[in-house]
Amino acid sequence: MKILLTGGAGYIGSHTATELLRSGHRVVIVDNLSNSSIDSVRGIEQITGQKVIFYECDILDMSALSNIFRDQKIDAVMHFAGLKAVGESVASPLLYYRNNLISTLNLLKTMQDADCRNLIFSSSATVYGMPETLPVTEDSPLSALNPYGYTKLVQENMLRDIWAADNGWNITLLRYFNPVGADESGIIGENPRGIPNNLFPFIMRVAAGQLEQLGVFGDDYGTPDGTAIRDYIHVADLAKGHIKALERIGGLSIYNLGTGRGYSVLECIRMFEKVTGQKIPFAIKPRRAGDAPIIYANPSKAVTELDWRAEKDLSDMCRDSWNFQNKIIS
Ligand code: NAD
Ligand code: UFG
Repeated sequence: MKILLTGGAGYIGSHTATELLRSGHRVVIVDNLSNSSIDSVRGIEQITGQKVIFYECDILDMSALSNIFRDQKIDAVMHFAGLKAVGESVASPLLYYRNNLISTLNLLKTMQDADCRNLIFSSSATVYGMPETLPVTEDSPLSALNPYGYTKLVQENMLRDIWAADNGWNITLLRYFNPVGADESGIIGENPRGIPNNLFPFIMRVAAGQLEQLGVFGDDYGTPDGTAIRDYIHVADLAKGHIKALERIGGLSIYNLGTGRGYSVLECIRMFEKVTGQKIPFAIKPRRAGDAPIIYANPSKAVTELDWRAEKDLSDMCRDSWNFQNKIIS
């Protein structure tokens, strides 16, 4: 199949593009490179030995997007494009509502006009807000804690409404937990601009000597070591989840993509130190506003219906993240 990936030059999109090519699909990437670079497109080609069709295009530009659908016969779309920094979304809500919502509206209208109605959407565990019951299932209550989270909830609702109005659409919502790690080659990975917001990219910069120490946000949660717990999932496993979702696309479906196992911040630091031999100096800081104390997935629906389960563990995530970090330094 020919798959169009919006935001395909980004972290999760580039790993999924690689997996799609490995599985025999053709890949068209549309990305404005606002949070990525052409290097990742070249990286996908280097890893797979195959060509990627790339358009540097902002999907806020609907006529440019329509031209791409006119020129390429697209079978399905994976919609990764979006802004994703929680703190930035609080500071600049308009930027987030405009970029994440208008772009999705443009995409959906363009797909409808081009009669392409197969869509896999990048949702997030953020839609569970502060979960009261753990692990979270796809039926757990939904809420948003910040503008970024609202954009995911609104996009999910838009997609539900579109499907309800026209069952000719096939729409799969994938709710990612905490993607980390990199392709084993070390050629593509996560390389955020500026000072990272997320735990693993921050740990990498400290390990590389680019930042002095990690701040651990809170050690007084009701968890065994007091630090917050998340369900970290290797980005390669996440990418494979997209292939399974594509193979079984039909109707409206929602899946958690997580491992089902949570790790605390201190456990992540210790595992990284053990796997890489690098010391991570850290200091305990106040809790970060809006952080849930604990969240991890119940991934059984994806296991049963998609025949997918995460295979890599936290030590693989640490090893591959560090391998990628070393390649960008050298
Ligand atoms: P990323 O920033 O690496 O990739 C997103 C890509 O979209 C970037 O390459 C960016 O340049 C592009 N983009 C943004 N706005 C665009 C626009 N208007 N037109 C064209 N391209 C545009 O992020 P990622 O980590 O790969 O995330 C991909 C998707 O998964 C996002 O929707 C994100 O919200 C979601 N998600 C990510 C995480 C995570 O922790 N990484 C967790 C849950 C969900
Ligand atoms: N943390 C620190 N220090 C840091 C960064 C993070 O202690 O410098 C802690 C956080 O407080 C949290 C944990 O590490 O307890 C993980 O934080 P991340 O920022 O890496 O991830 P979040 O769970 O907060 O959020 C991420 C994405 C969201 C997404 C969510 C669920 O940033 O966009 O995963 O998929 F919605």
